[in-house]
Amino acid sequence: MGTPTTPISRNADDGLLRGFWYPAIRNSEIHGDEMRQTTMLGVPLVVGRTAAGNPFAMRDACPHRGIPLSDGNFDGKLVECCYHGWKFEPVSGQCREIPSLMPDSRLNPEKIYAKAFPAEENDGYLWVYIPDPEAPGVPAPLAPRLPVFSERYKITQLAADLPCHVDHGIIGLMDPAHGPFVHQAWWWRTRRSIREKEKTFEPIPNGFRIIPHAPSANSAPYKLLGVYGKPITTQIDFVLPNMRFEQIHCGDYWFSSRTTVTPVTASHCRIDFCAAWNIFAHVPFLLSIFRFFGSRFIDQDTQTMIKQARGLKHNPPLMLIDDADRPAKWYFALKAAYQESRRTGEPMKHPIAGPTTLHWRS
Ligand code: FES
Ligand SMILES: [Fe+2]
Repeated sequence: MGTPTTPISRNADDGLLRGFWYPAIRNSEIHGDEMRQTTMLGVPLVVGRTAAGNPFAMRDACPHRGIPLSDGNFDGKLVECCYHGWKFEPVSGQCREIPSLMPDSRLNPEKIYAKAFPAEENDGYLWVYIPDPEAPGVPAPLAPRLPVFSERYKITQLAADLPCHVDHGIIGLMDPAHGPFVHQAWWWRTRRSIREKEKTFEPIPNGFRIIPHAPSANSAPYKLLGVYGKPITTQIDFVLPNMRFEQIHCGDYWFSSRTTVTPVTASHCRIDFCAAWNIFAHVPFLLSIFRFFGSRFIDQDTQTMIKQARGLKHNPPLMLIDDADRPAKWYFALKAAYQESRRTGEPMKHPIAGPTTLHWRS
């Protein structure tokens, strides 16, 4: 099905999707009245939390003369620009004071706004909604949440910066064929463990799902959860713009993770991995052990993408092959369908018609 090779090419646009929430910063990095500076989709942002506990995100540029607002002061209520002292309410961006105005001035500061973005705190991140300039009236939906399945659980987050366009980060994330080469380890798998895989995918809103199945016998969760002696199922979802969810269930025990790849600029992105679980609650140091192996795993991907970025610098022709790269082809098709629906205002036409079984070796 399809052509044997598909070049990864982008139009004149930067290939970044607007109209979605992205994790901007770990919320543990925001203390008290501190403002933090970050960049998402090439937009410089100043983020923080008001004394009332409301997160905020504004374009990090004063609407007066453009100096970064993050260079100013924040008292928990208003952000004061360091240049001429204009003050802004940071959740709405509304200007509250212009010190240079005479009492009889006809300029009403409250009609002036710094650009503010919807912001929410979830799962240990401050999420920021980047609206689509093509669809300005569309309200922000709820920010994403990691699915959890019991009241008590552990949660942890890991991150890595990648020197590549978000597309390469994302297709790396859903690439089933690199495991035996990039993630070789005695506790995980080796090249010799390559075997045939068959998985059935189905369309879901804005993405696709690998329908629940028993994890392959050569994978780590299978080996770990085998000790509970109950059937194990795993389900993997990809959802636009950038999220891979994985759920593993074994009786009442569960493990749930979400990996997002967030565009910082058109040439840089950041992987954020967030995982929660109630398995092995009695094992001491599990959190540290998990973080140790998890960060090694992410580091293997990062080192690979640093090498790939060296190769991509000179814009070589690329290909996507069936069936191992079909999820990557679907990602590009989903992106195109989303952008098309934004352009036309019509509902998005899902590019995957129905359940599809793919075969590959990994
Ligand atoms: S540049 Fe910010 S108040 Fe003038
Ligand atoms: Fe990987």
